Amino acid sequence: MRLPLNNNRLYRQGSFVATVVFIAFAFIFVIQHRTNTQSFGPISGSIRDSEYNLLDVEETDPRFAALAAEKCTIERMNADRLQQDHPCVIEMIRKRYLHPPADVDVPYNLAAPNKADPSVGQAASILNYLGNQTKGFFIECGALDGEHLSNTLYMERTMQWGGVLVEADQTSFGKLLSRRRKAYALPVCLSLHPYPTQVTFKVAYAIGSVQESLDPNQPAKTNSDGQASKETMLTLQCFPIYSILLAIGQTQVDFFSLDVEGHELKILKTVPWHKVDIKTLAVEWDHVGEKPLIDFMGPQGYYVFGRNKVNVGNDLFFAKNDSFHILRDA
Ligand SMILES: *[C@@H]1O[C@H](CO)[C@@H](O)[C@H](O)[C@H]1NC(C)=O
Ligand SMILES: *[C@@H]1O[C@H](CO)[C@@H](O)[C@H](O)[C@H]1NC(C)=O
Repeated sequence: MRLPLNNNRLYRQGSFVATVVFIAFAFIFVIQHRTNTQSFGPISGSIRDSEYNLLDVEETDPRFAALAAEKCTIERMNADRLQQDHPCVIEMIRKRYLHPPADVDVPYNLAAPNKADPSVGQAASILNYLGNQTKGFFIECGALDGEHLSNTLYMERTMQWGGVLVEADQTSFGKLLSRRRKAYALPVCLSLHPYPTQVTFKVAYAIGSVQESLDPNQPAKTNSDGQASKETMLTLQCFPIYSILLAIGQTQVDFFSLDVEGHELKILKTVPWHKVDIKTLAVEWDHVGEKPLIDFMGPQGYYVFGRNKVNVGNDLFFAKNDSFHILRDA
C-alpha cells in the first residue's frame, strides 16, 4: 500500500521539479533572446559598463562585426544613444570627422613661427612634471586655431609629441587645419553625455560654447546698441572623448588639455577612467569652480599638482596619483 503512494508523491514531486526547471529555462531563453535582439542594450552588463554606456565587445568578437554591419547613420547613432565604444560610433568618427596628422615633412604654417610656446604656462608646467618627456600623446580641446594660446604646440614641435586636436568652431577649425599640425584633428564638440549628441553651438571666436538645448522662444541676443549680435547658432555633432580615442586607437594619454568654457566637469564624467590611462590634465575651472573638479577627480585617482592663474583662464593641473610615485621613485 505504501509503495504506490510513495510513487505517486515522487511522481508529483518530479513533475513539480520539471515544471520549475522548464519555467527557469524558458525565462533564461527569453532574457537571452531579448539581450541578443536588443543591439543597443548592454551586452556584457557590468555595472561600470552601464554607468559609462559601454558595449565592451572586443573588435575580434563576432558580435562586433554583426553590430558594425547594421545600418549606421548619424540620425540613428544620436537617436539610439549608441554606446561610446559602439562600432557605428567609431566608424562614423573615422569616416566623417577625423583628419589625419600632416606629414612630418610638411612645414608648419604659423602666424608667429618664432614663438616656441604660445601657451600661458601650461605646456611648461606639464612638461616639467613629466620630466620633459619626448614623444608623448596629447588631447587638446578646444584647440582654437591650433596656434593661438595652444597648450600643445610646443610639445608637438619641440618634443616630438603626437596628439589630437578638437575644435568645434568651424572658422577656427579651418585655420587649425591650415597650420599643418602633426596631430589628428576633429571639427566636433565633446559630448556631455556618454553617447553621441547633437547640440546647437554659439559661434563666437575663442568663447564659443556648447548650448545644452536650443530654446526657440528665446529672443536673439542684442548688444548694448540694441543691434542683433554677430553670434550665429549652428547645429554640431558631439562625440564622447572616449569614442574619439578609440577611433584613433590611443587610450594612453600623457596630457589632456580641457578648456571648453564651462562644460569641463560634464565631459570628465563621461570618461570611463578604468578604460583609459591619462597621466596629466589641465582643466580650466573658472566656470565650474575648483572644488567640484577636485571632488570628482580625487576618487578617479587624481591629485592637483599645480595651478595656473592668468588673465585668459585659470587652470588646475591634475596628475594620476600613481604617476607621482613612478616619477619620484625613478
Ligand atoms: C625641463 O626643461 C626646462 C627648459 O628646458 C627646464 O627649465 C626644466 O628644469 C626641465 N625640467 C625637468 C624636470 O627636467
Ligand atoms: C589620490 O589623491 C587624492 C589627493 O591626495 C585623494 O583625495 C584620492 O583619494 C586619491 N585617490 C586614490 C584612488 O588613491
